[in-house]
Amino acid sequence: YQEKTLAGQHWLLTAGPTREAIDPVRYISNHSSGKMGYAIARAAVNAGARVTLISGPVNLTPPQGCRVIQVNSALEMHQQAMALAPKASVFVACAAVADYRLADVATQKIKKTADDMVLKLVKNPDIVADVAALSQRPFTVGFAAETQDVEQYARGKLSRKKLDLIAANDVAREGQGFNSEDNALTVFSADSATEIALANKQQVASQLVTIINQAYQAKNSS
Ligand code: C5P
Repeated sequence: YQEKTLAGQHWLLTAGPTREAIDPVRYISNHSSGKMGYAIARAAVNAGARVTLISGPVNLTPPQGCRVIQVNSALEMHQQAMALAPKASVFVACAAVADYRLADVATQKIKKTADDMVLKLVKNPDIVADVAALSQRPFTVGFAAETQDVEQYARGKLSRKKLDLIAANDVAREGQGFNSEDNALTVFSADSATEIALANKQQVASQLVTIINQAYQAKNSS
């Protein structure tokens, strides 16, 4: 038996990588497994929330009882997030969104005729920052994967993107973060820092859900 502490809340999450098409058969992407986002979705469902997961392409079984919206590109993820966020209570941005996409996607497969080639990239929209800038905004949580000066960069993103919380991890440490089974996080708000010790991602996710809910309740009652 678990108390349904999130009953009545709607949680919206992004997870996984995005794929930015080069031509009909090629793309640019990254090594995000989606595990942390899927674990948070599962923990939120278990705690009684209604959960919508906007997922990039991953090899994971979606948590039972959660609505999954499959997307490929950052623009598709952005469109879904902006459409659904105004009605969400909490938005958690776990996705490893590609920072750039192709300026022009080739409509036919590119042939290997030239000895070198240049791809022109343009910046993708920042999904979590755009959600946080909505007039009707959910409680907004971001992630920061850093290899150095974790607190400084995480706090920079917290204030620049106008987030309520940011969960930071040091991906330079062995056995945590990208593609790993385990993770450790520090959750920063404007005036606090809370540590979640190294554990498997599902345990870390339940603790994170508890911390997010406490901060969400505190904000709504102030
Ligand atoms: O700036 P950086 O990519 O390090 O920020 C990470 C946070 O921003 C994560 O929560 C990530 O999901 C979110 N993000 C986003 N859209 C982007 C880039 C990052 O939502 N285009």
